[in-house]
Amino acid sequence: MLSYRHGYHAGNFADVLKHAVLSLLLLALRKKDKPFRYLETHAGAGRYDLRDKLALKNAESRSGIVRLWERPDIPTLLQDYMAAVRSANDGDRLRWYPGSPLIARRLLRPGDTMALCELHSTEIVLLRSLFARDRQVTVYHRDGYAALNALLPPVERRGLVLCDPAFEIKDERTRLFDSLALARAKWPTGIFAIWHPIQERPVTERLYRRFENAGIPKILLAELCILPDATTKALKGSGMLLINPPWRIDDELKELLPWLLAVLASEGTGSWRVEWLTT
Ligand SMILES: C[S@@+](CC[C@H](N)C(=O)[O-])C[C@H]1O[C@@H](n2cnc3c(N)ncnc32)[C@H](O)[C@@H]1O
Repeated sequence: MLSYRHGYHAGNFADVLKHAVLSLLLLALRKKDKPFRYLETHAGAGRYDLRDKLALKNAESRSGIVRLWERPDIPTLLQDYMAAVRSANDGDRLRWYPGSPLIARRLLRPGDTMALCELHSTEIVLLRSLFARDRQVTVYHRDGYAALNALLPPVERRGLVLCDPAFEIKDERTRLFDSLALARAKWPTGIFAIWHPIQERPVTERLYRRFENAGIPKILLAELCILPDATTKALKGSGMLLINPPWRIDDELKELLPWLLAVLASEGTGSWRVEWLTT
């Protein structure tokens, strides 16, 4: 049984990295006229109320979106992400945090499509109601890893897969690696974005080595940690592994991550990293 609820973590510093990168990837896909497909393996509820009891339990958004919300100096590279957060809210007060499905939906053009997978019985109801009657969006109550095999490659032949697991099962990284390696073999030209938490550095590095040694070219790593590696147990940060990322996204991330670090780790701790694992 699944127990993870993203509502406890919505809008935290890890969401900011994930959703900022997601926005940049989709913006890059929009540069060509041809339609694309966005596929998400672990979609969550789609939208989160920052005033409900899940979000208020640890108030994680205070280490993330709250720090960005009132800043007058949002960099250009973050404008579309922040516009998605603003459009989920009515006025100047931050109450709703859009999950990746809503952020992505805002960046689809009329010919683009989106497929969302979610397994949790509560989250799927919320997700379905958010996109009811939306003909560009298909919502599946199914295992996102298995869906990769069934739904790829998309008819559009261009697009993006976001894989954002909850990391609540013991062999998650193995399942993630095996499924993504297979998916990439089925669709060698697709863009794949894989989010992962950074808690224990050796565990993280082992995941990187697996991708690095799998013979998959063009893997870019972007990491943002708000705490130093030496801090034990706590979630220090997160990373995105990007397979076949669009041209120049490495330069954009090298510009964006230092700014995000300064805002999200204003205590002067933490680090950022953008590097090619394979070329
Ligand atoms: C980190 S949350 C997703 C958050 C969302 N991507 C966002 O950024 O707004 C992970 C979600 O995956 C769901 N989940 C866990 N295992 C799954 C599986 N095998 N297939 C599909 N969904 C799964 C969980 O119920 C949870 O809602």
